[in-house]
Amino acid sequence: MTSPIIVVDDVRKRFGETQALDGVSLSVDQGTVLGLLGPNGAGKTTTVRVLATLLKPDSGSASVAGYDVNKQADEVRSVIGLTGQYAAVDEKLTGHENLWMVGRLLGMSKADAHQRAGELLERFSLSDAGDRQVRTYSGGMRRRVDLAVSLVGRPRVLFLDEPTTGLDPASRLELWDIARELVADGTTVLLTTQYLEEADELADRIVVIDRGTVVAEGTADELKDRTRGRVLQVEISDRNRLEEARDVLTRMAPPEGVHVDVATRSVFVPVGTDTALAANAISILSSTGIDIADFTLERPSLDDVFLELTGNSPSPSDDEEVAK
Ligand SMILES: Nc1ncnc2c1ncn2[C@@H]1O[C@H](COP(=O)(O)OP(=O)(O)OP(=O)(O)O)[C@@H](O)[C@H]1O
Ligand SMILES: [Mg+2]
Repeated sequence: MTSPIIVVDDVRKRFGETQALDGVSLSVDQGTVLGLLGPNGAGKTTTVRVLATLLKPDSGSASVAGYDVNKQADEVRSVIGLTGQYAAVDEKLTGHENLWMVGRLLGMSKADAHQRAGELLERFSLSDAGDRQVRTYSGGMRRRVDLAVSLVGRPRVLFLDEPTTGLDPASRLELWDIARELVADGTTVLLTTQYLEEADELADRIVVIDRGTVVAEGTADELKDRTRGRVLQVEISDRNRLEEARDVLTRMAPPEGVHVDVATRSVFVPVGTDTALAANAISILSSTGIDIADFTLERPSLDDVFLELTGNSPSPSDDEEVAK
């Protein structure tokens, strides 16, 4: 049995006119990854800042590893690492110096801080660049240093606020691997992202927030099931028999959803979560002698889920081209 290591209960935070958090509740089990998913301005960073004790909520409570974020900020800080949405490393220092400095700030001896810096540079494939100023690093290297900095103190709980925004695909994959390794070592991760694919890849559970409230939660699969469910697409070999195929299929599925697309010679049948219905549909069509060229059983993508829940497409990253 795992138990929650992060608990957020009915947290509210207002900035002037903006109700950034309007009663957010969530929990994260130890050793798992929670994906906090939401469009721009949903309240993701605000949630992370409350949990990292950088911001006091107006009301509600939150705890990390059993420590209250309002009353035990020092204890909370001793167990967490934070990689913020915007780089927090000093560009004029080298990678090694940045890591060393954080080690010293955490109270390590000079020798220990050097050793830890070396270990982390190695782990993040930055050993060769360790003695160069961070301002000479590529976007992907900067993100890696950022993450390394948040790991100096071996945190039990790691907050990653949009860790891969602006990264090229290869750097993104690399960062995902690192995150997986950390979780395999027992670290709990709360990851905010606008990339559905990222939540799908990394998160054990997903909480979708929009305008400061939780609008859905579950595993990626559960969220996909909550929408329209699966759609069976049957491609008919003979275009002239399309209408006939539709008539056959309409008799077995909820009729309002069945539709024909002439261009792809296909009939689409919503089957929800009933895969037996899909299998039946194929076998009945075959038995009527209508030749099937192909069929697929599509699941809605997380993008569809997101759109349905928030009425927003996930925002395209504006800074995709920043990283090299
Ligand atoms: N310090 C602040 N002062 C005023 N308004 C703020 C402040 N911080 C956040 N907000 C507002 O609160 C809302 C939630 O912001 P937040 O940064 O948590 O969103 P987000 O989900 O992280 O968005 P993004 O995906 O763009 O990073 C937004 O409307 C934002 O403008
Ligand atoms: Mg944010």
